[in-house]
Amino acid sequence: MTRAYSIASPPSQRSILTLVFNRVDHGPGSTLLFGLKPGDQVHFKGLAGSFRLRDDVPRNLLFVSTGTGIAPIRSMLQTLLSKATPQVVSLLWGLRAQRDLYYQEGLHELVAARHPMFHSTITLSRPDPGWTGPTGRVTALVQERVKTVDNLAVYLCGNGGMIKDVTGFLRSKGLCPIYREKWYDEENEEE
Ligand SMILES: NC(=O)c1ccc[n+]([C@@H]2O[C@H](COP(=O)([O-])OP(=O)(O)OC[C@H]3O[C@@H](n4cnc5c(N)ncnc54)[C@H](OP(=O)(O)O)[C@@H]3O)[C@@H](O)[C@H]2O)c1
Repeated sequence: MTRAYSIASPPSQRSILTLVFNRVDHGPGSTLLFGLKPGDQVHFKGLAGSFRLRDDVPRNLLFVSTGTGIAPIRSMLQTLLSKATPQVVSLLWGLRAQRDLYYQEGLHELVAARHPMFHSTITLSRPDPGWTGPTGRVTALVQERVKTVDNLAVYLCGNGGMIKDVTGFLRSKGLCPIYREKWYDEENEEE
C-alpha cells in the first residue's frame, strides 16, 4: 500500500522533507505519519511526478490552491521568492475556516522579504465569526480576478472540482500554460 504526498519544502532544503496533510480517521497513511515520534525510521520512494516550476519567463505566475493542495505550491513559492523575480507572482488560496490557516505567517514572511511582486489572497468558504477577508470558494476569486490569460502561466493544486472548474474558466479566456497535479484525472474532466 502506498500513499503519495507532495513535498512542501523547496529542493534547496535537502536534509528535511516537509509534508502537509490532514489526518484522516482510519487512513493508513496519515495515521502512520501522525503516529511517528522523533527518531522513528520511515521508508519512502520518490521523487515522482511532474508538477514542478517551469521556466515561463516573462509570463506572470498565478498559483491557485485549496486546502492542503498548498503543499507543492509552498515549495515552488519558496524557490521562486528566494531569488529576485521580474514576474508578478500571485497566490489565491481557498480554505474552509480560520483553523485551516496554516502557513499564513510564512507567506507573510515571504511577502515581507522584499518581494513587492508577490501577492497572496486567502478566501474562506465557511469562516467563523470575525473573519474580515474574502469569503467563498477560490474558484469565484479566480473568476473575479483573472480578466485575461495573456502573459499568464497557472499552477493548480487541490480539490479536483476546483481544478476542473478553474481549468475550464481559464480555457474560456484563451491559451496559457496550465500545470496541474500528475494524478489529477483528466479523463474525468468531462463528467
Ligand atoms: N496533502 C498534499 O500534499 C496534497 C497535495 C496535492 C493535492 N492535495 C489534494 O488537495 C485537496 C485538499 O483537500 P483538503 O481537505 O485539505 O481541502 P479541500 O477539500 O480542498 O477544501 C478546502 C477548500 O476547497 C473548497 N472546495 C471544495 N470543493 C471545491 C470545488 N469543487 N471547487 C472549489 N473549491 C472547492 C472548500 O470549500 P467548501 O467549504 O465549500 O467545501 C474549501 O474552501 C485534496 O483533494 C488532496 O488530495 C493534497
